[in-house]
Formats: sequence, C-alpha cells, structure tokens
Amino acid sequence: MKPGYSLMKHYLQFKDFRAEEYAYLFERARIIKSRFKNYERYTPLSDRTLAMIFEKASTRTRVSFEAGMYQMGGSVVHLTTGDSQLGRSEPIEDSARVISRMVDLVMIRTFGQDKLNRFAAHSRVPVINGLTNEFHPCQILADLFTYLEHRAPVGAKGYDLDCLKGKVVAWVGDGNNMANTWLQAAEILGFTVHVSTPSGYEVDAKVAGISNPDCFKVFKNPLDACRGAHLVTTDVWTSMGYEAENEARLKAFADWCVDAEMMAAAQPDALFMHCLPAHRGEEVTAEVIDGPQSVVWDEAENRMHVQKALMEYLLLGRIG
Ligand code: CP
Ligand code: NVA
Repeated sequence: MKPGYSLMKHYLQFKDFRAEEYAYLFERARIIKSRFKNYERYTPLSDRTLAMIFEKASTRTRVSFEAGMYQMGGSVVHLTTGDSQLGRSEPIEDSARVISRMVDLVMIRTFGQDKLNRFAAHSRVPVINGLTNEFHPCQILADLFTYLEHRAPVGAKGYDLDCLKGKVVAWVGDGNNMANTWLQAAEILGFTVHVSTPSGYEVDAKVAGISNPDCFKVFKNPLDACRGAHLVTTDVWTSMGYEAENEARLKAFADWCVDAEMMAAAQPDALFMHCLPAHRGEEVTAEVIDGPQSVVWDEAENRMHVQKALMEYLLLGRIG
C-alpha cells in the first residue's frame, strides 16, 4: 500500500467533505492556479496514474482531468463503455478490483450513483464522481471556487467561506444532478438555493441527500426564484441519459429560460453560471450567457484547477 492510502477518501458526492476541507481545497486550488498562470512546474504526482472511465460523453471533464494530471506529472488511462469490458457486462465490482490494483486514482462518469458507489466499495484507491444521474460534485466545486474568485477577498488563510453564508443561488430549470449537488453545497456552506423547476421535474430532498429543508426554497415562477439572487444558474433541459424525454421536456421547460429580465431581478452584481454544454435559446438566452454577468469560461477553466487540488488532496493528503 502506498503512503496516504491508509486514510483513503472517495469523492462520490459533495457532502463527502466538510466545510473546513472545502476551505482547504479552495486555497490549494488558488495556489495551484496561480502557479499554472505563472508557468511554474508543479509535479507532485509524478509516479501516479489516474484511470478515467466514461460511460457518458464529455468534453470538459475529460480535458480538465487529463490535462490536470499531466501538468502534475502523472499519467492517465482513458476507458469508455464501448472500448472496455464494461460494455460487455463485466461486473462493476470486478472492474473495480482489477483497475484499482493498477492505478492510483479513478474518476468515473456513469449513470446511477449506485454503480459508482459499488465501484468505490470494491476499489483499493480513491474514486471521484465525474458525474452521475444524481450528482456532479466536481462541477459545484468549480462553481463555488469561481464565485469566490469573483466575489470574495483573499485573507491570510485564503477565502473565508463564511462569506457564502446568507447568499442566494437561483436554480432555474431541471431538478437534476446539478441541482441536487447545489442543495448539498448549500447545506454544508450555509447559503440558500432558490429552486424553480417545471412541475414534474422538482428536486427531491431525499434524492439530493439533504436533511435541512431550509437550505432551499421552491418557486413556481423562475423570475421569483431570481429575485435578489447573488448567482443565477441553469443547465440543459435534457441531461445525458434522458434523451428519450427530449420532446416532452422541450415543451415543459419553455418558460425556464434564463433571460435579461431574470438577471435584472437578481442582485445588480449577480453572476451567471452554466456548467456547459449550453443550448442558447433553450435554458439561457445568448444575451445572458455571452453577456457581462456571465462567468462561464472561468467556470469551465476552473474545473481543471479545483480538480488538481482534489487529486492532490486524495493522493497526498494535506500539503504543509
Ligand atoms: N460540465 C461538464 O461536466 O462538461 P462535460 O460534459 O463536457 O464534461
Ligand atoms: N445535467 C447535465 C450536466 C452535463 C455536464 C447532464 O447530466 O447531462
């Protein structure tokens, strides 16, 4: 067993870490990003290998993990359902036992959270959720870091996460993996999510895995959800795995498009975020996503910086 594994942690959902661990991770992400921007080499994972398993498509998740691992001196192995035995019914437990004997870290993008949990239960090495039907914790990690970068001062110990307390995040759209993860983040970090979804697509506190009902409020009208918000965010109307529902969703979500009126109802300095890929004219207008309040490109780039901090933490523990 390599050093560090005795304290092995997985990152399967946002609530796997405490607020104090997030404060640490955001500070490491800030330092790691600044080194990257200054062309400073930082290769603490030089003998480590990350296996990335994709059962769904990806651009950002693949590039951010792969580039991030190479920048830290490590290597990656890329597997998909179609080009591995995963697509030929090898049990996920057996795949976990085998893959985790050969690599140091595994990132999985799959369908049900249960499949990810089963992999983790049989893995000898840390496992990261790269998106499931239920959660997308790496994305919310990047989103919160992006919010802090734009709106929080840097103190002696980095960002003070208390500045998130009392803030309002407006979620407009599907009660999906992103929405569930925002609810977990709100519960841990003390902000409130104003959720507006079409009827039939609501968030479910049980699925989201939250116990404090005060961390979110439900609004019928998306404009009301945006009133006074510090951050307005949305996502595709049809997530991966739900394509058969696309036609019904196009009709049901027609009024859940983030537009200039919704942004005007939010705080004057509200930010707009979207995990991407985006569909201009569906969940967001071009005016908003390409407008001055949108930070979607920083948000996408920050996937790489926060995940480098995450991989460092899972493999090496705390630095210094
Ligand atoms: N936001 C996100 O996870 O993007 P990809 O699907 O491109 O990885
Ligand atoms: N909710 C979307 C996010 C894509 C990054 C999906 O699961 O497809």
